[in-house]
Amino acid sequence: MRVGKGYGYGKTILVGEHFVVSGNHAIAAGISAKTTCTIERTKGTDYELVDNRLETPGYKKEKAEQMKESLQLIFAAMKIDPKKTPFRITLAGDLVAASGVGASAANCAAIARALSDEFKLKMSDEQINAVAYQGEMGYHGTPSGIDNTAAVFGGLLWYQKGTPPKFEPIQAKTKVEIVLGDTGLVGNTKELVAGVQARRQKDPQAYDKIFKEAEELAIKTKKALEAGDIKTLAACMNRNQELLRMVGVSHSALEELVQIAREEGAPAAKLTGGGGGGLMIALTPGKNLQQKVAKAMQAKGYRTFEAVIG
Ligand code: PMV
Repeated sequence: MRVGKGYGYGKTILVGEHFVVSGNHAIAAGISAKTTCTIERTKGTDYELVDNRLETPGYKKEKAEQMKESLQLIFAAMKIDPKKTPFRITLAGDLVAASGVGASAANCAAIARALSDEFKLKMSDEQINAVAYQGEMGYHGTPSGIDNTAAVFGGLLWYQKGTPPKFEPIQAKTKVEIVLGDTGLVGNTKELVAGVQARRQKDPQAYDKIFKEAEELAIKTKKALEAGDIKTLAACMNRNQELLRMVGVSHSALEELVQIAREEGAPAAKLTGGGGGGLMIALTPGKNLQQKVAKAMQAKGYRTFEAVIG
């Protein structure tokens, strides 16, 4: 039987998470791990969901309600009514469903692509991205759109929110190994984003200064990537972690992973994505350093994902 098929990439944010929600630039790097989706028509009365993705324990349960909302937003954006044309959504792939790796966006992109395929809508990547953005609203409330854009297009992206968003690929001079360390804790991105915005309103002077520095760091990071300047790239990522700490989205488990990575010789380590748990990223140029850092994190009981960016 023919099925509709789709996919979405995972991502990591190198610099600018949270600040991007208020209009700053951020840089995302797609990773090769993907979420895949198939759509099969059924004789049921509504959609069915079979979620075979690997997960950080508790992730799917924690996100179940947000996922339902997200699916309704995707169906509405695509003008598909599962009560009239019922189908089964099956999710799988090698991207682990965890906070900070763009799992919700990869899932929205994969579902939108598979539905477009099954219902022969011939949607362009831009149209898929617009649908995936709607889907992300179910999870985030006010997403910047960086996650869904990275999930749809992959690669290294220079991103600024907007309607439509502004983004372009970054031509990195060299590839760099990274390790993503998983705290195993599910961060609530929606609450974390709202928290930063609320604290900014209470103390606009201090926060405006932090946001301004974050924008300067994003610009410097882009130039460092284009020049293959790992030292400056690392310095920018480390300073970005300090800014994220200042706006209150780090977590003791993230700090422990950051410390392990730095002690093992990683030139940079920071949280990635929403924070409050979720994932952190360590810059580990060279396969040997990558292995060393990953092993040290694993020895402390953390799961790791190794990838290459650029
Ligand atoms: O936690 P993640 O991987 O979904 O990343 C969220 C990134 C934020 O900047 C915190 C929110 C956003 O919408 O950009």
